[in-house]
Amino acid sequence: MANSEIIGAGQTARPAPKINTITCGDCLEVMQSIPDCSIDLIVTSPPYNIGIEYDGYVDKKTWQEYYLWSELWLRESLRVLKPDGRMALNHYLSLGTAKERATPLFDLNRIALSVGFKHHTCAVWTDITLAKRTAWGSWLSASAPYINAPFEGVLILFKERWKKDKRGISDISKEDFIKLTRGRWEIKTETRGKTPANFSVDFAEKNIKLLSYVGDLVLDPFSGSGTVAYSCLKNGRDFMAIEQSEKYCRIAEERIHALRSPAQNTVEPL
Ligand SMILES: C[S@@+](CC[C@H](N)C(=O)[O-])C[C@H]1O[C@@H](n2cnc3c(N)ncnc32)[C@H](O)[C@@H]1O
Repeated sequence: MANSEIIGAGQTARPAPKINTITCGDCLEVMQSIPDCSIDLIVTSPPYNIGIEYDGYVDKKTWQEYYLWSELWLRESLRVLKPDGRMALNHYLSLGTAKERATPLFDLNRIALSVGFKHHTCAVWTDITLAKRTAWGSWLSASAPYINAPFEGVLILFKERWKKDKRGISDISKEDFIKLTRGRWEIKTETRGKTPANFSVDFAEKNIKLLSYVGDLVLDPFSGSGTVAYSCLKNGRDFMAIEQSEKYCRIAEERIHALRSPAQNTVEPL
């Protein structure tokens, strides 16, 4: 494994992200060294704030705390995007118990608009793990039925203008273009995750192919197992990937290395 390609592990100074490299660090710090207006597309899912056991990150803040923190990385995301840059932000539409519900994607949309993003749309897809329901509320009664919301949403935002400034090479298939622009996405979910809550290569590829040209620069500030980085490499895009966990950075680097040198590797790409 090419350890030298993980930047930032064990260092105290702020690491500068390099193109086509996994950078280990806090995205709020690392993003500060990304130049203004340099990124074509951000594809990301931040930690969900639902108590997932990540390595090195506590995923259970109060929602108020979570949104204050989200405002900071959304501001940085806006700064680094080109004027025609876009962001695909994955999160749940509605979650929680009957007593306490949260609407992260709606709230993140509001915060994103408040820091200067513009809203293009929100596509939805079904999460099979949430679709397996265990709670009905008041069974067969209108008293207090519990309505499940097994959806994740992709908030599609942009910086200044939706239309891209230049023409480039698009590589999306006709079939995928028609399906994705309908807004209800069918995603092959990931069942072999090496980190908690990784999304699938299918999901990353759909976003990348729909929203960027071949050769564009794509950023994932919450890279986890490197699904966006892997998909970029596979589809001729450049990437910057930031992840706070050294363990996940190594997993991501192994996936990328396996793609770059398939013959020497036994690691099965996710
Ligand atoms: C939902 S997961 C992303 C999974 C990723 N999309 C994948 O396919 O593997 C969120 C990730 O954000 C990371 N994270 C949390 N806080 C972070 C921070 N401040 N800077 C960088 N990464 C962070 C967590 O360690 C976790 O891996």
